Amino acid sequence: MNNPVTDHITETIKEMDSLTCSHPASVNADVATIYYALTKMLRPLLVVEIGCFIGFSTLHFAHALKELGFGRIISIDAFDWEVDAGKGMQNRQIVAEDFRKKADLESVITYIKGYSTEVYAQISGQIKNKIDLLYIDGDHSVKGVFADFNTYYNDVRLGGYLILHDIYPSMCGVEGPRVLIDQLKASGIVPHQLELIEMQTRDGYGIALLRKVGNRHIQISCDLSHFWKKIFRKASKKVLQRWVNSARIVVKVIDAQTRRPISGATVLCPQRGDEYRVTGMDGAVHLDHYIPNRYLVDIVTTGYQDKRAVMMDVQAEKTFQEFIIEMIPEG
Ligand SMILES: C[S@@+](CC[C@H](N)C(=O)[O-])C[C@H]1O[C@@H](n2cnc3c(N)ncnc32)[C@H](O)[C@@H]1O
Repeated sequence: MNNPVTDHITETIKEMDSLTCSHPASVNADVATIYYALTKMLRPLLVVEIGCFIGFSTLHFAHALKELGFGRIISIDAFDWEVDAGKGMQNRQIVAEDFRKKADLESVITYIKGYSTEVYAQISGQIKNKIDLLYIDGDHSVKGVFADFNTYYNDVRLGGYLILHDIYPSMCGVEGPRVLIDQLKASGIVPHQLELIEMQTRDGYGIALLRKVGNRHIQISCDLSHFWKKIFRKASKKVLQRWVNSARIVVKVIDAQTRRPISGATVLCPQRGDEYRVTGMDGAVHLDHYIPNRYLVDIVTTGYQDKRAVMMDVQAEKTFQEFIIEMIPEG
């Protein structure tokens, strides 16, 4: 992402990322990087974002647009509560505008204050049939997501894209985006009008990327079956919780000769931003939210030969995996 012309944007994004108020309300930094890359690739003239918070995702879309040299983003938020972004409690619109200024993105980003469905009339002249990329990350309730979809989707151009955030309720705790996706599938809108890719993300919340392949005007209503699903989810919360808890990786470090667990061994995963963990008395570390992938880890502990780049193959179909690493004593 190094670009001398936009390095100040990277710096501004880093500053926002490090604020305690930023996450988890702002999207995870890895996910935001996907938005940057997608924008670079899709080259949209108009991005519409519903749900800005303080503008973390907004800055990523805008960063890409600035580098492309064209395109703008309209970001809508109710901005109806305050945060402390290091200067005491402030309205979030002021925070977002300060960062926009710092990043010199005033010509790229337009903030609109108000409830998404209410401000539509105010901006419809600018967006009608013009949205190349629509990002829905506002009110995550079933009612809210359906309202946002119904209000803005028909202005997405044929061939344009829609991103939904927070699609895995067991991890993110909200239902709306999942219910919308299920309903789009059940009604046949996916795949006939919209192509869909669901993507697991490092925080487990997930994103869906949808491409508009049909030009039918769509108004979708929420099927009542989701209420039954909700009741089922609540009833099975304990079971679900067990599933969530067990969707984990355990790395167990043992002495190759005695087979005894080794406590105090360090387990480092450079692929996960140098995630660094230390084994407990049982020789184990418990690792959460591992997206299926092959991970290389380094294990180091006093009195044993270092083990570098040990492969952990985290498989998609397994919710729990244990990796036993045998350490060879020195000398
Ligand atoms: C999860 S945050 C958005 C995070 C942001 N997209 C990011 O990743 O940096 C959700 C935001 O949606 C806003 N919001 C919720 N319901 C809304 C609505 N109906 N209209 C406008 N904004 C709404 C909230 O004020 C909040 O700032």
